[in-house]
Amino acid sequence: MKTKLLRTRPADIAEAGGLLAAGQVVAIPTETVYGLAANALDGDAVLRIFEAKGRPQDNPLIVHISALEQLEDLAEDLSPAVYQMAEHFWPGPLTMVVKKKAVIPDRTTAGLDTVGIRMPSHPVARAIIDAAGVPLAAPSANTSGKPSPTTARDVLDDMNGKIPAIVDGGACSVGVESTVVDMTGDWPQILRPGAITEEMIAEAMGAASTDRATLEGLSDDAKVRSPGMKYRHYAPKAPVILYEGSPWDTFCGILEDMNQPWTGVICFEEFLPAIKESKSRLVYSLGYSWDHAEHARRLFSLLRRFDRTQARRILVQCPRTVGANAGTVNRLRKAAGFRSVDCKKGRRVIGVTGRSGSGKSLLSQQLQSMGAQVLDADKVYAQLLKTDNPMTRMLCHHFPGVWKEGVLDRKKLADIVFSDPKALETLNFITHSQVKAQMHHTVEHSDSKLIVLDVPLLFESGIDQLCDLTLAVLADREGSLARIMKRDGIDRPRAEARLNSQPHDDFYRARADLLLHNTGTLAQFEEKVDTFVKKYCK
Ligand code: TXA
Ligand code: MG
Repeated sequence: MKTKLLRTRPADIAEAGGLLAAGQVVAIPTETVYGLAANALDGDAVLRIFEAKGRPQDNPLIVHISALEQLEDLAEDLSPAVYQMAEHFWPGPLTMVVKKKAVIPDRTTAGLDTVGIRMPSHPVARAIIDAAGVPLAAPSANTSGKPSPTTARDVLDDMNGKIPAIVDGGACSVGVESTVVDMTGDWPQILRPGAITEEMIAEAMGAASTDRATLEGLSDDAKVRSPGMKYRHYAPKAPVILYEGSPWDTFCGILEDMNQPWTGVICFEEFLPAIKESKSRLVYSLGYSWDHAEHARRLFSLLRRFDRTQARRILVQCPRTVGANAGTVNRLRKAAGFRSVDCKKGRRVIGVTGRSGSGKSLLSQQLQSMGAQVLDADKVYAQLLKTDNPMTRMLCHHFPGVWKEGVLDRKKLADIVFSDPKALETLNFITHSQVKAQMHHTVEHSDSKLIVLDVPLLFESGIDQLCDLTLAVLADREGSLARIMKRDGIDRPRAEARLNSQPHDDFYRARADLLLHNTGTLAQFEEKVDTFVKKYCK
């Protein structure tokens, strides 16, 4: 069979729809990964998917729809929670497991009485579902066991000659498969982590949990709630070894272990030069250590890229293992067969950030009262200014006019850097690197099991690299203004000017592992802090 590459013009969509309506298999783009689609209501068509993928017949498929009405044609006993979840997260990277109706053949669900249903957000996927006029069963479009495909080229590598057509919709924007959530119980339970995180579901629904099997390996005879959990997955040819811990600690771990020839490395962008320099040329970047969306986008294509090299083993710098990274970390652990090197040194370092007046010091205080060692970046900076050290020497050199009898005139310095972007860059480079070095030193020599780094510019300074977990506290503007005015005794225009100079929520949303919303009453925030501490600071 010759595999035709279709594009996304109306005629291409119509052709794909026609093939699907006629019982054929077509690979289609979605926002998560490419899917291998066929009519979900036609057992013979579905069988062709299993054949093309080489997939075990006991692993059920996800059924894709383009409108909420279609859900009721396929599933029954739908709880209000299902509609609430749909309202929040559909269309998008979420699959809900619900009780199936008899129209869905056993082959689609591998004999289960439940079915996984997803409404993708990718406009091409939706247009193809509409053109086919039927719901589409679609697993990821890879050969069973290999990393999922995120480009049409990856699909072609696995499916050339096995299916009649691939629709090329460009690279997938999410990059890991949808979050699979069991909606048949009392609250949503995650069976496969993805871009819709446990924290997002808990925020929307009040409660959510994650099946333990997503976090650790399973014994061969274990009974699993989602058959996909038990198969070897996402594996490139060479074995994958995962380094877990803060970005800095995993970087050190990998540097020590990469002596053997033909060692491949996947590391964060900021460590790429140092690792490339040291030995291996088989080094690829997963993106900056804070950029969880980029990690998800790059992961599968990087794993596939190693299959085209001579690498005999692949060392991977694992993103931080909580919150927003859950999907990427789960795929990496599976690719590594749950083998990882623990670089954590028996302590936990939590980075806390957010705008002025967000309430982050309340969180730090709470952690301190529980015995955590808290390092406040502003205080570290102020302390450094008092002594002769590399930071003060560099500041003297670059900003000679702002010192009076050994004391820094902060107002004068501020006037200079706020009117000269180059000067600001120099100042930031000096202070960030030196405050980071000082904090690093303290962390390395601390006996504390729990260390909190309270840093307004956590990501800008690179201090997040020292952390096992990063948390941003987000507050509404009015609440923050009130707190700043009260605490610092300044008027509203000055408090506003300060807030305006700081990043928007989206900045923190894109970088922090976890978010804590300080939007209700103080008591509500304290309760959230309490929940956070119990869950993540043990
Ligand atoms: O993002 C995605 O979900 C992609 C795109 C193409 O939509 N699809 C995808 O399908 O990843 P697949 O077949 O590769 O993975 C489906 C996962 C498997 O782990 C399977 O065991 C689980 O969903 N699953 C499907 N139906 C289920 C059910 N009724 N109960 C429990 N788990 C189910
Ligand atoms: Mg798959």
